[in-house]
Amino acid sequence: MKEHLTRRNFLATAGTAALAATATSVLAAEPGGGKPQKILGIACSPRKGMTTAKAVQAALDAVKGLDARIQVELIDLGGLSIAGWSPTPPKDDFTDILPKLQDPAVAGLIIGSPSYFRSLSALTKAFIERCAPLREPKMLLDGKPVGVIVTGAFRNGGQELVIDQIQTAMLCFAMIPVGGSPPAFQGGTVLSTKDDISGDELGLGTARNTGLRVADFVLKLAGAKRNA
Ligand SMILES: Cc1cc2nc3c(=O)[nH]c(=O)nc-3n(C[C@H](O)[C@H](O)[C@H](O)COP(=O)(O)O)c2cc1C
Repeated sequence: MKEHLTRRNFLATAGTAALAATATSVLAAEPGGGKPQKILGIACSPRKGMTTAKAVQAALDAVKGLDARIQVELIDLGGLSIAGWSPTPPKDDFTDILPKLQDPAVAGLIIGSPSYFRSLSALTKAFIERCAPLREPKMLLDGKPVGVIVTGAFRNGGQELVIDQIQTAMLCFAMIPVGGSPPAFQGGTVLSTKDDISGDELGLGTARNTGLRVADFVLKLAGAKRNA
């Protein structure tokens, strides 16, 4: 068992190191700073500061300091009141969140949700529906990467299904869904044991790798835009 875990940890670490090296090599090729590239992490559990927020924060921490242009911010929706879309825009806490999403510096998203009955949380769904103003009149997220991290109380608790649901929704914003390097093929899949994810090194590795993949795309796209 120990041997197996050690190998899995190695794979997670090796993947993280490989992606970090890729991102760093982009930096080396693009010296001299440039426009800020903001990666927003959105934690969509109704419970503020709990496992989903911690997993998204782990992904953001992994990309901090990769490049002078990269800025990160966690938006924890826990405790906020956000209703789904309706013809009359609801007056709720989304009003304060929208300008952060409309910031032209936003270059990528990391969306975190708990798995609720093998589906995305109602708060995640409401958040995505309320992002409709990011599609019209202009597709503000077009071509920007999105990574997804899902927590669950079971190892196979529907995390990959929920990632798929969120990635599919974000295709409507013309975002580019990204996974991570192995073993985070689809994104971050994190196991919470009694509201604690600190013991799930494999899962935390997938969260970090997802963050690194988003950053990798952000930097590549920033480089391509500058040279165009
Ligand atoms: C209504 C509800 C449904 C849940 N369904 C699942 C599930 O299908 N699979 C799973 O692995 N965990 C399930 N859980 C557990 C949560 O996904 C898990 O505790 C998660 O880490 C909570 O995120 P948070 O700590 O950020 O609130 C469920 C929890 C609740 C409250």
